[in-house]
Amino acid sequence: VDETVPPETLETRTIDGVARYIKDGKAKRIVVMTGAGISTSAGIPDFRSPDTGLYANLARLNLPYAEAVFDISYFRGNPYPFYTLAHELYPGKYRPTITHSFISLLEKKELLHMLFTQNIDCLEREAGVPGHKIVEAHGSFAAQRCIECKRPYPDEDMKEMIKTKDVPHCQDESCLGLVKPDIVFFGEQLPESFFKNRTKPAEADLAIIMGTSLTVQPFASLPQFVGEGTPRVLINLERVGGIGSRSDDVVILGNCDDGVRKLAEACGWLEELEEMWAKT
Ligand code: APR
Repeated sequence: VDETVPPETLETRTIDGVARYIKDGKAKRIVVMTGAGISTSAGIPDFRSPDTGLYANLARLNLPYAEAVFDISYFRGNPYPFYTLAHELYPGKYRPTITHSFISLLEKKELLHMLFTQNIDCLEREAGVPGHKIVEAHGSFAAQRCIECKRPYPDEDMKEMIKTKDVPHCQDESCLGLVKPDIVFFGEQLPESFFKNRTKPAEADLAIIMGTSLTVQPFASLPQFVGEGTPRVLINLERVGGIGSRSDDVVILGNCDDGVRKLAEACGWLEELEEMWAKT
């Protein structure tokens, strides 16, 4: 046992310690922060995992650099790589993972203060997390508009264009600008809701960070806004974002689906979680 770390923080540094913290009623306002790693087991590749990540597999699109696929200035010049990808990523083909259901279970137990997600797959909503508890920091495919005149583009027409891998253009004859889903591209502002909810991490009494490399700002700074003395639990394949530097950080390395199952089991919620997920 590491004598230098006070016993109570050792206690909260394991899944059982986190479960005890939750069962003791110390976590009433849990803030969850997620990235593409929570959707990989649904079949949606993440971005930066070597070999399997999206950025390692875009070579076929002849991009100058991988992130160009989500770069607004590159998109203006050549929308084809994005629309090739959109065809593969478009919501509706994928089922939420048990990790998405775990977040929905926190809401069902009235413990979810806010979910900040970087994902554009809308799987949190499909798992039952209510819209007012989700900040889609990088937007989503939920709506689309002309990048020049901002005129909204009809959902049905968009679904058709994505299916046929066509590039949609503004339906205003005098504009004909490119249409893009409300996904935040590199070079674009994050949605208002991100900045409006910026204080939520500071209000948390527990933070759970899952499936993100914490490499893209300003999202990557969110864990720093969690108050000192509020445990931050990382459930991720690798250490990221300096989580673990605080004495009450908890780092659970591994697959997030396994991590949430272990945490749910320690809280006595596993059966309820599995039933919930089975219904998605
Ligand atoms: N379980 C746990 N962790 C996982 C899993 C898994 N099954 N699969 C992947 N991971 C981890 C990876 O190890 C990595 O640390 O999730 C993280 C995924 O990181 P990224 O691929 O960089 O995805 P993300 O952090 O969401 O990217 C942020 O970058 O390209 C932009 O806008 C895009 O929102 C995206 C942002």
